Amino acid sequence: MDISRTSDVWWKNAVFYCLDVETFRDGNGDGIGDFVGLAQQIDYLAGLGVSCIWLMPFHPSTNRDDGYDITDYYAVDPRLGTLGDFVEFVRTARDRGIRVISDLVVNHTSREHPWFQSARSDRKSPYRDWYVWRDEVPKDGSDGLVFPGEEESSWEWDDKAGQYFLHRFYKHQPDLNIAHPKVREEIRRIIGFWLEVGLSGFRVDAVPFLLETKGMTQEMKIAPHDWLRELRSFLGRRRGDAMLMGEVNLEYEDVRRFYGDEGGDELHMCLNFNLNQAFALALVREDAGALVHSLRAMPSLPRDAAWANFVRNHDEWSLDKLTEAERQEVFRAFGPKPEMQLFGRGLRRRLPTMLGGDQARLRLAYSLAFSLPGAPVLFYGEEIGMAENLDIPGRLSVRAPMQWSDEPNGGFSDAPPEKICRPAVEGRKWGPAAINVARQRRDPDSLLSWMERLIRRRRETPEIVFGDWSLLAVSEPAILALRYDWDGQISVIIHNLAARKQKLSFTLDLPLERDGLIDLFGEGDFSVGGDGSVSLALAGYGCRWFRVRRSF
Ligand code: NOJ
Ligand code: CA
Repeated sequence: MDISRTSDVWWKNAVFYCLDVETFRDGNGDGIGDFVGLAQQIDYLAGLGVSCIWLMPFHPSTNRDDGYDITDYYAVDPRLGTLGDFVEFVRTARDRGIRVISDLVVNHTSREHPWFQSARSDRKSPYRDWYVWRDEVPKDGSDGLVFPGEEESSWEWDDKAGQYFLHRFYKHQPDLNIAHPKVREEIRRIIGFWLEVGLSGFRVDAVPFLLETKGMTQEMKIAPHDWLRELRSFLGRRRGDAMLMGEVNLEYEDVRRFYGDEGGDELHMCLNFNLNQAFALALVREDAGALVHSLRAMPSLPRDAAWANFVRNHDEWSLDKLTEAERQEVFRAFGPKPEMQLFGRGLRRRLPTMLGGDQARLRLAYSLAFSLPGAPVLFYGEEIGMAENLDIPGRLSVRAPMQWSDEPNGGFSDAPPEKICRPAVEGRKWGPAAINVARQRRDPDSLLSWMERLIRRRRETPEIVFGDWSLLAVSEPAILALRYDWDGQISVIIHNLAARKQKLSFTLDLPLERDGLIDLFGEGDFSVGGDGSVSLALAGYGCRWFRVRRSF
């Protein structure tokens, strides 16, 4: 296998770790996480094996959408540290072999951003056309609301401006007008700036909305996808190995368009929302059918492009791609109470509570997610099985402070509890006294220790993202059996989604000189019959990662 490709296109085989600086680790005792505190934890992340940190927005912000409402794109939120602290962190991460990417939130700014303040104050302001204005709300102004129940329209009247402005998200987040060449130029400048101070790429927020021209009055002289192409090539010119990971929560065929042409000249990766939602249904049903269906529907990608797979992210577990009946089925099993649900489409819980703390099932879920075609993305705290705190409003329920130890504030901060930026997870079962890094670090059977092994295993199995995948025919509906082929290297990865033990057999079409399966998690090897047949048993919620052994 051509191992050098795993460093040239590093992001394909990366293990991503998404975190919010604010809730990760407080380094100066003021109750708010910061870059100094995060830098102290780099060795923890390196030990875990993650190879790329995805920072949620860390810029000055009005913090009405947890930083996704930016007031200055060229600075660090002073609560989180200085630009100097940021650079020290990125440098320390790089030294430990970890790259850093961050959210690029340029579909909209905060309403308090000086650009918007200038734009609304004066029709002649050079920033007026940086936003989208209308005298009247278009007829379809309330179609496709992103936050049903919280916003009634995508247009808001501004008294000072004397016009309505477009906001696809909250009304305090006016959309930028990408038809305006100066806005596009500014977005390039923002990208260029953060690449210069060390970022390796971006998780591009809300890409379909960013490219959408619906409602805009100014003609866009360049087709939106051509602009995305331009942005990608600009990124590549500034930093050859930089990457763009897109948030594109659309149907598969539509997502494919965001990767660009056959050669792939737009986004390098997209978060795989379709597969993630099928994954939820498969877990609930203890049946691989939904995953098989989704994998078969998944479009093939250009050679140097990849999917980013995740279990849970920082938002609600959106189930918007499922049918109403399927969604209700997941709600019933994983979040039956109304306070566990959000926007009628998702769950504001983390996985461990949804699974009632079942360790075997939890491990099955992560092993499965890590074995799907693509690169895995973890959300901070998943490695220790952190829970949500439903008392924290809305989406923030899953963004409680990281649980480092059983010390006060879960070791997150030395500040008095009343100064902590966000309430910790509570209770004897899920709070920091029970679930924390310090304890799990000492326990070889802990989720954290297991996750370290999983990450190591995943990193050492690049065929999952570089290779061709195929589904092995098995007759048990609870079993997902995937085969990967890359450059003569063959892996077979099998998961049992059900609680009961399963016996299974399958046939491998192998070159003659192969004769056995090496168990990559060290649970004993298997032989392959002369006809390629393999028989084995899998424990309830069991998983097996095999590599086919050459017989010479
Ligand atoms: C997607 C982000 O994941 C979400 O948290 C945010 O509210 C919206 N984009 C708006 O920026
Ligand atoms: Ca702090």
